[in-house]
Amino acid sequence: MSKQMLCLPGDGIGPEIMAEALKVLDAAKLRFGLDIEVSHGLVGGAAIDQYGVPLNDETLALARHADAILFGAVGGPKWDDQPMANRPEKGLLQLRSELDLFANLRPAMLFPQLAEASSLKPELVAGLDILIVRELTGGIYFGEPRGVRTLENGEREGYNTYVYRESEIRRIARVAFEAARKRSGRLCSVDKSNVLEVTGLWREVVIAESAGYNDVELSHMYVDNAAMQLVRAPKQFDVMVTGNMFGDILSDCAAMLTGSIGMLPSASLNEKNQGMYEPVHGSAPDIAGENKANPLAQILSLAMLLRYSLAEAAAADAIEKAVSGVLDKGYRTGDIASEGCQLVGTAAMGDAVVDCLLNA
Ligand code: IPM
Ligand code: MG
Repeated sequence: MSKQMLCLPGDGIGPEIMAEALKVLDAAKLRFGLDIEVSHGLVGGAAIDQYGVPLNDETLALARHADAILFGAVGGPKWDDQPMANRPEKGLLQLRSELDLFANLRPAMLFPQLAEASSLKPELVAGLDILIVRELTGGIYFGEPRGVRTLENGEREGYNTYVYRESEIRRIARVAFEAARKRSGRLCSVDKSNVLEVTGLWREVVIAESAGYNDVELSHMYVDNAAMQLVRAPKQFDVMVTGNMFGDILSDCAAMLTGSIGMLPSASLNEKNQGMYEPVHGSAPDIAGENKANPLAQILSLAMLLRYSLAEAAAADAIEKAVSGVLDKGYRTGDIASEGCQLVGTAAMGDAVVDCLLNA
């Protein structure tokens, strides 16, 4: 039976980079005889324009039915006036929550060819390979109550709730311990347990879970220090595990260390290994439609999708190798450009990956 992939390009540069990923998928199908059926849907601002909501029931049903979802990016100034409950980002958050995609894996790996593109000195980032495991369906992003209320004196007050259950902490801790076990065996849990009770519990539960992982060396760090250490000496980290909001912030920071946020893919998985795969970067409305966006994070997200949710490791490896191949050849989009490189647009970068994949 063919495997089902749902494609949700979203807004801004989403459709452009998705088109390149689909070219690469077609090439991979050809080379590896993959049997994958692709369906398409609208999400985010594109869905608001068409249906009035950022994720409609039909698209959600398609998502539930799919083995994997390839997601582009959502949001843009056009929808900034939408009420919070109907913003483009809600479509993404709803998908994460409805499919229970609690485990967000965000690798920050430096392609050696791009060491010069990092904002840090090459020696600080050479060989950098961090995996951030971010809890994705809980914490302050989803905690209730939330809202804006008017106090008796007429002043308005905004509030959100930072909440984690033991079971939520336990399951993300396990994902992180398992990942650390397969890598260098080091795990750093990031919290703010000197101030926030919820992350005090986080630390307690992570320590309790560590009993089952004697081969993993566990450390703890406050989030402010972790942010500092990431830009001071990032290579001290292997796997980091943290809650939803800290993970959002630290993963952007880690991404930038690799030279470009335009290079980084991510996976969001549930207990059944059903997954949604998306670039870490956003919809970049400022360059949308200009054939300038870097499609490599989207293409690498496709590779992750093939590996984790569709069990097509050989095709995933080949795509990653093809991406490395185009970098070797000197092809660069604007975000990773350096002196003497071959500056290319979105489509030419996608074509170059296809070429490497088919003619390797
Ligand atoms: C991310 C993004 C999202 C998040 C937004 C678009 C809702 O920043 O995936 O990191 O905050 O999780
Ligand atoms: Mg983010």
